[in-house]
Amino acid sequence: MYSDFREFYMKQCLDLALYGQGIVSPNPLVGCIIVKDNKIISTGFHGENGFFHAERVALMKPGNYEGATLFVNLQPCSHFGNTPPCTDIIIEKKISKVIYGIEDPNIDSVIYSDNELKKNRIIIEKNILRKECILLNRFFFINHKKNRPYIFGKWGQTIDGKIADYKFKSKFITNNQSRQHSHNLRFSADGILVGINTVLNDNPMLNIRLKKSKNLKRIVIDPDLSIKTDCNLVKTAKKISTIIFSKAFQCEKELFLKDNGVIIRKLEDFSIKNILRVLYIEFNVKILMLEGGGKTLGKFLKKKLLDEIFVYIAPIISGDKNSVSCSDRQEYVDIDNFTQFKFLGHKIIEDDILLNYIGESVNCLLE
Ligand SMILES: NC(=O)c1ccc[n+]([C@@H]2O[C@H](COP(=O)([O-])OP(=O)(O)OC[C@H]3O[C@@H](n4cnc5c(N)ncnc54)[C@H](OP(=O)(O)O)[C@@H]3O)[C@@H](O)[C@H]2O)c1
Repeated sequence: MYSDFREFYMKQCLDLALYGQGIVSPNPLVGCIIVKDNKIISTGFHGENGFFHAERVALMKPGNYEGATLFVNLQPCSHFGNTPPCTDIIIEKKISKVIYGIEDPNIDSVIYSDNELKKNRIIIEKNILRKECILLNRFFFINHKKNRPYIFGKWGQTIDGKIADYKFKSKFITNNQSRQHSHNLRFSADGILVGINTVLNDNPMLNIRLKKSKNLKRIVIDPDLSIKTDCNLVKTAKKISTIIFSKAFQCEKELFLKDNGVIIRKLEDFSIKNILRVLYIEFNVKILMLEGGGKTLGKFLKKKLLDEIFVYIAPIISGDKNSVSCSDRQEYVDIDNFTQFKFLGHKIIEDDILLNYIGESVNCLLE
């Protein structure tokens, strides 16, 4: 429960903002509530009305906003982007107080926005439910801070951390409900990335199987271009964006793949850093979901690039040390260099458990 009325209304902004999840990236999730005489007189969220920001959506609804207090989880913008500055409409509608959760990650915007409001004698309060506000938009803050996609890993494993047997026999480890649940994670991302072995062994679709849909980009790291030309990804590449990162030259195969809608992005610099740069800048992937397998997850883990993880644990044990681990790093890792995560939440899904952790990169934002 929130004892403070500001926290109470801010929590409602956060709940409203969530309606934009999976829709508004690369923009942040923002919700807005306008209160006058202790009553909510308007609400809005980014994504509700096309591309308008939450404050503008709320203030465009008919009503008398003079003297009202506007609550919003992110500092109102003061610049022209696809839409005019939110500070303009806040001033025009004679709002008397703005209470926001967290400052914009762009420092120039922070000062300018506050100054605009103060110049017009609008009272400002900030840092209400600050941690919750950062957590909601952790992808947006990481994008700005690191200039790369927000990366979250997801896998299903046995109790002893195995994601496949050592012969790569393809079989689901987790239950139906867990797999259904993970489609919501796919929906929240802009792109979903796997290593080539996962494509060769599992022949996945990597699509979203929910009532709502979006054009999620499917991305494969395939250094030798060994993808099979009749696999599900290739067969559906004309309908769902499919990008392959490769460094091999196989003219005929490349032509076939391209004719079938696959985008082949050749890279000389095949480092993860460069792959992420290309995804972020060329393909506009701001939120990247990493679905394995073990080698690929291991490479990202080694570079400390997992901002968050979702681990579905099934009530089974492999018991075979040669089964594929969730992170298959083929090297000695000193106990002092194990990667630390911070617990964020859990969910019981029938007899599976979903564990959710944030990495150091996100934890740092909260301090
Ligand atoms: N339970 C689950 O949630 C889950 C999810 C996904 C997959 N899986 C299972 O995992 C198994 C496959 O795992 P895996 O570890 O063998 O393979 P993988 O991670 O799917 O693919 C590894 C391949 O991708 C290449 N690769 C990945 N990132 C690279 C990078 N940054 N630079 C260069 N090459 C890169 C690897 O190169 P190198 O040759 O350099 O290593 C290797 O060729 C499958 O059988 C599948 O069933 C399970």
